Amino acid sequence: MAISASTFLAVLSFFSLIFFAYSRDFSIVGYAEEDLVAEDRLIDLFESWLSKHGKAYDSFEEKMQRFEIFKDNLMHIDRVNRKNKSYWLGLNEFADMSHEEFKAKYLGTRPKRRDHGGAGHDAGNGFRYSNVVSIPKSVDWRRKGAVTAVKNQGQCGSCWAFSTVAAVEGINQIVTANLTSLSEQELVDCDDNNHGCNGGIIDYAYSFIVNNGGLHREEDYPYLMRENTCLQKKGDLEVVTISGYEDVPPNDESLLKALAHQPVAVAIEASGRDFQFYSGGVFTGPCSTDLDHGVTAVGYGSTKGMDYIIVRNSWGPKWGEKGYIRMKRNTGSREGLCGINMMASYPTKDA
Ligand SMILES: *[C@@H]1O[C@H](CO)[C@@H](O)[C@H](O)[C@H]1NC(C)=O
Ligand SMILES: *[C@@H]1O[C@H](CO)[C@@H](O)[C@H](O)[C@H]1NC(C)=O
Repeated sequence: MAISASTFLAVLSFFSLIFFAYSRDFSIVGYAEEDLVAEDRLIDLFESWLSKHGKAYDSFEEKMQRFEIFKDNLMHIDRVNRKNKSYWLGLNEFADMSHEEFKAKYLGTRPKRRDHGGAGHDAGNGFRYSNVVSIPKSVDWRRKGAVTAVKNQGQCGSCWAFSTVAAVEGINQIVTANLTSLSEQELVDCDDNNHGCNGGIIDYAYSFIVNNGGLHREEDYPYLMRENTCLQKKGDLEVVTISGYEDVPPNDESLLKALAHQPVAVAIEASGRDFQFYSGGVFTGPCSTDLDHGVTAVGYGSTKGMDYIIVRNSWGPKWGEKGYIRMKRNTGSREGLCGINMMASYPTKDA
């Protein structure tokens, strides 16, 4: 339905009065059917969403365009939530972005297949956890103090740096009992084997850290959300080092063995529309295994007979479960859900 600018404004002011006391929690969705057919209700939802997320547009035309996208996303969210899946979607801060736009801005990175002949320090030098025989039923490295607060990559394809750094912060805390937030920007700016905001390979990032003598603290080399000149002076202020890294054999059992000992960097396919709006629960797909996003697995567990891996994303704390997603494991495929088993790796650190 096309509405003119003046009609839009008139309707808007009218209904903002009527629905003044009308509020809802956008993170747990369960819309009444009537909300989704009446344009005025939709305008109200959009306005509430705009104020909740502090959004404003440059022009009325843009606002109208965003409203159309918002409605389309809302219908998708509603359709999925009505299926009573084990996960649900919500009108998060990405609700005014089309899926194409979202993918271009927040993914856009294509980690290549693993390359053992690369610049790796001890790549392919084995998997130290292969002989592990018993692991706990559940593990959550957040509870053990090995995980820093969720970060936000913004509109820069630097997920690979966030994924690597979280794994390094984890092993550093486990070995030294000191949780220190480290610099993604140093990797974005200085790791010439990777591509800054245009993607990167986690194993190359570990190699950079080894050869560089460590990473700066986050506060000494803060995140800019864009590529900048490398400001690092070798050895200067590099506070946290690693010894090397190892790749996890691509199967559920090996990933759990590694996860029982430390957070693990993983690559997944996150280009599905449901990933954009994931709000909570155990994610079961749909997704394929065309890896396009680096994240960090920080634990595993089970709920209501469903096994999952706890995955830390880098889209800020408002996305998903306070920045995390629980992804189903034991799917029966070797690759794991969204390919999570295919490119898992972790840093090593000698005590
Ligand atoms: C989903 O769950 C709700 C509430 O439990 C129920 O009313 C509805 O019929 C269910 N829908 C489907 C498609 O299973
Ligand atoms: C933890 O490590 C960082 C980086 O080396 C250091 O600045 C900080 O003082 C350490 N904290 C403690 C409590 O030792």
